[in-house]
Amino acid sequence: MRYSKIPDEAVRRLPIYLRGLLICSEQGLQNVSSRKLSELLRISPPQIRKDLSYFGAFGTPGVGYNTTKLAKQIRGILRIDTTNKAALVGLGNLGSALLRYPGFSAYGLQISAVFDNDSVKIGKIAKKVKVEDVSNLSALTKRGITLAIIAVPADAAQEVADALVKAGIRGILNFAPFYLDVPKKVKVITIDIAMVLARLPYYLPAGA
Ligand code: NAI
Repeated sequence: MRYSKIPDEAVRRLPIYLRGLLICSEQGLQNVSSRKLSELLRISPPQIRKDLSYFGAFGTPGVGYNTTKLAKQIRGILRIDTTNKAALVGLGNLGSALLRYPGFSAYGLQISAVFDNDSVKIGKIAKKVKVEDVSNLSALTKRGITLAIIAVPADAAQEVADALVKAGIRGILNFAPFYLDVPKKVKVITIDIAMVLARLPYYLPAGA
């Protein structure tokens, strides 16, 4: 771990700051204050300053942050300053949508391998990537692939995760509604859309 005792929440907000800085750059802003970033991102200026302070001293009092420089520094902290190759497992409805999504490249992510267990899909080319048989999933690190996305049904998620760990993957983005059991050295982030949706009505005004 390069940084210690940094709250996950601060790390979670770093890509949000990066996105804000990219928007500011597109608007031609060379410098941006934490107040301006705050208005854009709906995160308070003290929170922005505190989060960034965990990683070093950034910005100049009275001037703000240099948008290009801070964006570069955040990319370095997140290790997305080079391309991170990812394997996608499960080319169904969700997997196909993820493969088509162009927005990952701005954050250094490239889906460079696709695996499935459906013989109809295996061997086909999807978005210039050949669909491979999941039973041949091995030695991904030799191919420069360090991350993986799981988009298979919940009952297949653990066996896929086990194969990914065996293949050397150290970071998994899991879309299956299943709590994966993996060694500590492997970081799993689960995005369970149903769990997020289930919270939303709670915030609706009474009678809405
Ligand atoms: P899907 O049924 O359309 O696709 C699943 C794909 O995984 C298929 O191509 C299937 O052949 C493949 N597969 C099944 N077992 C496999 C295995 N052992 N190894 C490799 N590939 C295997 O399902 P969908 O809708 O794409 O969902 C995928 C996962 O994402 C599910 O866990 C689902 O609960 C979750 N999810 C889906 C959402 C959606 O909007 N489609 C939203 C949120 C979560």
